[in-house]
Amino acid sequence: LITIRELYKNREEYLDKDITIGGWVRSLRDSKAFGFIVVNDGTFFEPLQVVYHDTMDNFDEISRLNVGAAVIVTGTLVATPQAKQPFEIQAREVEVEGASAPDYPLQKKRHSFEYLRTIAHLRPRTNTFQAVFRVRSLTAYALHRFFQERGFVYVHTPIITGSDCEGAGEMFRVTTLDLEDTPKDGQGNVDYSRDFFGKETSLTVSGQLNGETYAQAFRNIYTFGPTFRAENSNTTRHAAEFWMIEPEMAFADLDDNMMLAEAMLKYVINYVLENAPEEISFFNSFVDKGLLDRLKNVVSSEFARVTYTEAVEILEKNNDKFEYKVSWGTDLQTEHERYLTEEVYKRPVFVTDYPKEIKAFYMKQNDDGRTVAAVDCLVPGIGEIIGGSQREDDYDKLLARMKEMDLKEEDYEFYLDLRRYGSTRHSGFGLGFERCIMYLTGMGNIRDVIPFPRTVNNCEL
Ligand code: 4AD
Ligand code: MG
Repeated sequence: LITIRELYKNREEYLDKDITIGGWVRSLRDSKAFGFIVVNDGTFFEPLQVVYHDTMDNFDEISRLNVGAAVIVTGTLVATPQAKQPFEIQAREVEVEGASAPDYPLQKKRHSFEYLRTIAHLRPRTNTFQAVFRVRSLTAYALHRFFQERGFVYVHTPIITGSDCEGAGEMFRVTTLDLEDTPKDGQGNVDYSRDFFGKETSLTVSGQLNGETYAQAFRNIYTFGPTFRAENSNTTRHAAEFWMIEPEMAFADLDDNMMLAEAMLKYVINYVLENAPEEISFFNSFVDKGLLDRLKNVVSSEFARVTYTEAVEILEKNNDKFEYKVSWGTDLQTEHERYLTEEVYKRPVFVTDYPKEIKAFYMKQNDDGRTVAAVDCLVPGIGEIIGGSQREDDYDKLLARMKEMDLKEEDYEFYLDLRRYGSTRHSGFGLGFERCIMYLTGMGNIRDVIPFPRTVNNCEL
């Protein structure tokens, strides 16, 4: 079978030749002596029209097909200069590989994204989701390429973990115990020493802590895997299961971190513009009209940089525009992030040096005693897409901060060890992969850029 992609990319080679394709019926039209089938095979954004005639033995069978049926078509590829598509197949044979039931839920009309979420197993057969998931695949590859070209080592960090990287207590517990039947202590706490791992364990919220250990051996590493958060935030930007890319660099400070993040985002944008032009132009026409210009501008301009303290000064002056008022010490909400990047800077912006109270325990404390060397990257349309920092590399300061934040030292011994055996200045960040796909496609809901989304009250399929 030849792919429709190959026909489009090297059309001169195939015109007037005999070819065979396999795909799914998008639409059908028939009259007495002939009919048309539009077939998409998933390899290319554009479908292919098939013309068939009543000279075929199975003409009636073909004409009775429903949308969604799988067919194998053999015939001649002919140019159609008058039509919207550049060519079609004059079929010699249409073999029905698998018929489709008449209740096939995807008919030739526009379905809402809400409806399509209820048929997550079939939505990849629509134009929008063909485009989304091809871009998702290409972006994953582009990220690997970016880091591999720069010599970063890909580390597979564990999914089941005994530590809470972000210290936010938003972990999904992993247990084999029957919690109802397990005896509890006086305070009603379960005794996890009886559990599979002999301790309390969870699904990871971030691979960072394990990633740091490998950075202290390989210098530059990255992780790319699923992470899990039991945040009760029912928004268009939060999923309970999402993927994160987390580079970590030894001998690197916050500035190096920002340079890497900016180069990485520009690289993936360029890669997708070059390798998925049909998809991006589809999004630009049907999903987000300003997408293409915006992406092109990002590649050719420098990201803005501002400290948290400066950002708060700007935001405070505009507090009348916000639901949540800002003052020094408040965590920035999406509305504030979007205001900064969409109204003030009109491009991606790095916000640095947040108050230590609103950031994780591992961030390097600045000399002012009240901020840490954190960096978030905010982008128009989304807000935070990257969160990172320089890490605290001083054993005593780190331990003191952990104690202040009530972290159990015994769960982080390996992490403290790194500060005892050849500690280096080091930095890293996490890019939310789904938010990156939203940014590249203009799709407005995280549920529509992950094949089978898991969000509050939703774990279907
Ligand atoms: O800012 P976060 O929480 O940072 C970390 O986890 C660090 N350990 C990363 C590091 O320094 N290695 O998360 C990083 C990014 C966010 O900027 C956001 O893009 C994404 O992960 N993210 C989510 N994406 C979807 N759903 C959620 N619930 C997310 N929570 C964070
Ligand atoms: Mg963050």
